[in-house]
Amino acid sequence: MTVPTKTLPSGAELPGLGLGTYELDGQTADSVRAALDAGYAHIDTAEGYHNEEAIGDALAEYDRDDVFLTSKVLAKNLNYESVIESCEASLDRLGTDYLDLYLVHWPNPAISLRETLRAMAELRERGLVRDVGVSNFSAYQLSCAHHVSDVPIAVNQIEFHPWFQRPDLVDYCRESDTVIEAAAPLARTDVFGDEVVAELAEKYGKSPAQVVLRWSVDSGVVPLPRSSTPDHVRANADLDWELDEADRRRLDERDRDEPVYDTPARDWTSDVYGIEQ
Ligand SMILES: NC(=O)c1ccc[n+]([C@@H]2O[C@H](COP(=O)([O-])OP(=O)(O)OC[C@H]3O[C@@H](n4cnc5c(N)ncnc54)[C@H](OP(=O)(O)O)[C@@H]3O)[C@@H](O)[C@H]2O)c1
Repeated sequence: MTVPTKTLPSGAELPGLGLGTYELDGQTADSVRAALDAGYAHIDTAEGYHNEEAIGDALAEYDRDDVFLTSKVLAKNLNYESVIESCEASLDRLGTDYLDLYLVHWPNPAISLRETLRAMAELRERGLVRDVGVSNFSAYQLSCAHHVSDVPIAVNQIEFHPWFQRPDLVDYCRESDTVIEAAAPLARTDVFGDEVVAELAEKYGKSPAQVVLRWSVDSGVVPLPRSSTPDHVRANADLDWELDEADRRRLDERDRDEPVYDTPARDWTSDVYGIEQ
């Protein structure tokens, strides 16, 4: 795997490809094992994925320091005490005493961002997390986070794939030295139906997933593909080949501003936000 790492504010190196674990359910531990055996060194989870215990079981078989581990705090738990409690509970379930990266899973307009980031700074101070960041933040929200935070905002994990390239948000992340992680980098398989993706897969003798992931890495983001199929997990890390510049630009032109999950509508009463009237 030839995927460059990104240096975070703590000085840690973020591996340039990670395993996504959303909705892996009963396959979670096996996918994590398949990934770590295939050379991945980066696992992405969240308290909202309800799989941290299974990930902890798998991680117990490996050297913790060889794995970059990310978790996220739910938007409904963003007040000061809840952030601390959520992090401690995630550590407990994962069977570890630190997270490499801890993210605010979604912005929550009903809770003070300043208060949330004070708690994140406290977690970093106590050594429970090495770097902190956010997820699903717009440029406006990220700019506010940078403004009020005592701790550097290392990462914004956002939906990013050929059909949802978000140039303004990407530009702002770059200007503000915020590393971009690509959630749903395969658009949950939707982009496999793109005619240019299919044509390039044929041309290079690669799968559509490999074409999209190679393009993500070349675009300077850190993709987090999820797979419950060990063969797919392994194939997704086989990125030791090059996409021509002209072909990369053809994929740049496939943007449709079309999300698979980050749609404007929100269910404020859901388990993510838990906001009652
Ligand atoms: N921060 C957030 O709010 C947020 C939101 C969404 C996602 N994420 C993160 O990003 C990760 C990835 O996003 P996602 O899980 O939504 O979707 P995704 O990675 O874009 O797509 C997953 C789908 O792709 C299929 N797939 C993977 N590799 C394949 C291959 N080589 N060939 C054929 N099919 C393949 C998987 O099926 P198989 O299982 O059959 O391989 C699965 O159906 C998540 O797991 C999570 O860690 C974060």
